[in-house]
Amino acid sequence: MQINDKSEVKEYAPNPQRYDDMVYKRTGKSGIFLPAISLGLWHNFGFVDNIQNAREVLRCAFDLGITHFDLANNYGPPYGSAEENFGTIYRKDFKNYRDELFIASKAGYDMWPGPYGNFGSRKYLIASIDQSLKRMGLDYVDIFYHHRPDPDTPLEETMGALADIVRQGKALYVGISNYQPEETQKAAMILKQLNVPFILHQARYSMFDRWVEDGLLKTLESNGVGCIAFSPLAQGVLTDKYIHGIPEDSRANKAFSFLNTDTVKNNIEKVKALNALAIHRNQKLSQMAIAWILRQPQVSSVLVGASSANQLKENVKALDNLGFTEEELKLIEGIIS
Ligand SMILES: NC(=O)c1ccc[n+]([C@@H]2O[C@H](COP(=O)([O-])OP(=O)(O)OC[C@H]3O[C@@H](n4cnc5c(N)ncnc54)[C@H](OP(=O)(O)O)[C@@H]3O)[C@@H](O)[C@H]2O)c1
Repeated sequence: MQINDKSEVKEYAPNPQRYDDMVYKRTGKSGIFLPAISLGLWHNFGFVDNIQNAREVLRCAFDLGITHFDLANNYGPPYGSAEENFGTIYRKDFKNYRDELFIASKAGYDMWPGPYGNFGSRKYLIASIDQSLKRMGLDYVDIFYHHRPDPDTPLEETMGALADIVRQGKALYVGISNYQPEETQKAAMILKQLNVPFILHQARYSMFDRWVEDGLLKTLESNGVGCIAFSPLAQGVLTDKYIHGIPEDSRANKAFSFLNTDTVKNNIEKVKALNALAIHRNQKLSQMAIAWILRQPQVSSVLVGASSANQLKENVKALDNLGFTEEELKLIEGIIS
């Protein structure tokens, strides 16, 4: 996809104050600090989306001190197109700032036809990282994840492939995503034996999905691994956007979406109650939902999505009020449990 450079889009000069206000958190026991809020490119960055808008969101992110961009081989649609669009924007705007960026990719879900384009074989992972690097025009990613557990491939094979990807210089660190606590523990032990820096587990975590509290966060802590929480806004449900109905251009209303209108409708009473509490705290609901996750010490970063730069600006303002009183936490608990 082409970037329209004849438009009003000027050469990018990042905000010189970009590191002043962002909070950076150490990831587990590693040397890496991540911004408390990171940007994911799952939606809004594919060939079906507007690349000028995608470019604006990425520029806005970096200007706000967001140094971590999260991608995966299959983000789009179509698959691969978010990485390709990111590569196009990266070459124009971010090439000179490579060492200020922490860029992730992943493999583990369906990517190409046949038996070698899915799950967790060595064959799939090694081919996939090569494809991702080519699409993004990068020499290496900062972290490469196995995107989901594979029930059939031995964990030793999958973790061994991650280790070799690091040894080949194609990733600096490794991570896993969507692994249960027990699988995470096994993966951590294998990676330790292989002497590979395993620093992050990427897990869905929001007020509406708290499975990580049931053992995963403890497992991560005991292994010195950080948690990066994805879909912290339950894909937009934990904002005020659906309170008066389902907007035309919202994720719940889009094709290629994993959020359906029933999920929105089933949760709307809780959303309204949470929204009232957020207003009482002088916050937007999105900001309260992010702050609520960041109260967990094991969470290194909250990985948000954004369909506009304004959404991202709003979300980053969560950092202005991260504290909760005991009473507020009890009220939240009462609404969501
Ligand atoms: N490892 C995995 O298996 C996995 C799975 C899912 C996601 N992820 C990662 O996590 C990232 C974030 O996931 P997500 O996009 O589901 O996160 P999310 O932050 O829960 O949802 C983002 C969506 O919420 C809406 N939104 C965000 N800020 C808003 C605001 N201030 N006001 C109103 N609406 C707002 C926007 O949707 P609208 O389009 O409706 O405006 C936006 O696209 C992904 O990009 C990806 O990198 C990883």
